[in-house]
Amino acid sequence: MKLAVVGGGSTYTPELIDGFARLRDTLPVTELVLIDPAAERLDLVGGLARRIFARQGHPGRIVTTADLDAGVEGADAVLLQLRVGGQAAREQDETWPLECGCVGQETTGAGGLAKALRTVPVVLDIAERVRRTSPDAWIIDFTNPVGIVTRALLRAGHKAVGLCNVAIGFQRKFAKLLGVAPAEVHLDHVGLNHLTWETGVRLGGPEGADVLPRLLAEHGEAVAADLRMPRELVDRLGVVPSYYLRYFYLHDEVVRELGRKPSRAAEVAAMERELLAMYGDPALDEKPALLAKRGGAYYSEAAVDLAASLLGGGGSPYQVVNTSNNGTLPFLPDDAVIEVQAAVGAKGAAPLPVAPLDPLYAGLVAHVTAYEDLALDAALRGGRERVFRALLAHPLVGQYAAAEGLTDRLLAHNREHLAWA
Ligand code: G6P
Ligand code: MN
Repeated sequence: MKLAVVGGGSTYTPELIDGFARLRDTLPVTELVLIDPAAERLDLVGGLARRIFARQGHPGRIVTTADLDAGVEGADAVLLQLRVGGQAAREQDETWPLECGCVGQETTGAGGLAKALRTVPVVLDIAERVRRTSPDAWIIDFTNPVGIVTRALLRAGHKAVGLCNVAIGFQRKFAKLLGVAPAEVHLDHVGLNHLTWETGVRLGGPEGADVLPRLLAEHGEAVAADLRMPRELVDRLGVVPSYYLRYFYLHDEVVRELGRKPSRAAEVAAMERELLAMYGDPALDEKPALLAKRGGAYYSEAAVDLAASLLGGGGSPYQVVNTSNNGTLPFLPDDAVIEVQAAVGAKGAAPLPVAPLDPLYAGLVAHVTAYEDLALDAALRGGRERVFRALLAHPLVGQYAAAEGLTDRLLAHNREHLAWA
């Protein structure tokens, strides 16, 4: 089985390699190609990747290359984990929105739109090249903003599934609190990428007993503290929002907080320098503990599970993925991309039925879906007015003056990445 990772020089890659090594019975990788234009990074990451495989006795071959077409040729699955413009562009996304009183975040709000505009054309070009060289390959997209990027891929007819680690993170956390094995915990997970709620926590599978009320009664404090949300809010919702809902439920507080501290991009850039120095140490042959401070916890396990199921192997039967709505949430268009539990197999992902969604969540989901639709339109066709329309439609922007100010800033900071600007 051949897998290719686009953005293979990412500091996240050792997390992925560690997963491939540990879970080799689930996903027997014989060749793993790490593709990245950044030669020096790729060298460091590739070296550590080979040492991790060697230490764990993994027989698979690890290849590093800057040549995308050669790298993806004949692959069974291609993982996308790239970041157009790197942490420098992310730093921009996280800062200029604050000047207009809006959250600066790499996937939510105006920063997320900037990232979508930079990323969608690049990902579509890569996917086209994958289709030419390996028409049967599955594309697993971890590249943010995952909802919009996956929608772009599916609309262009690619064999793609979007992946995020928020759900697997909750699954692991809840399992620990409940004292059961992670595989025992089945989440009723609903919404859009980075806009989700856990509306049920079932033991044993989709038909299992819902222990969410008990989880909140016994561990509400820990759950809320982890999300950095007031416990009372979580209790009154009676469901567990993802931490990205902080940008909505605590918007003004978050804007103040973001204005006071260094950006996440700056933190991550510092961590990356440290990580890369460690990766260069020939004695290091496992993923360093520092990597756990990045947001990608359990990414490797989710990716292995998904690839194994898509490639006909032994992954979990149900997984939380980003895929076409197709009537699952009846108030959304069929081609909207939602993040829900799905039955995953060689034919792809088919969402499990979802109970009627409380208007408290459905309204926001519909609103952000409309924004995502306009964001994709702006990413595909360009133009200042399309950017403005997407921002005006976003529930965290909405006002004319803010949308205008954000549009100007987005364009000013992203010209080098936008062919049409
Ligand atoms: C989580 C999210 C990812 C995001 C990451 C950021 O893992 O699911 O979508 O890319 O956090 O982590 P970072 O360490 O870069 O802030
Ligand atoms: Mn994510």
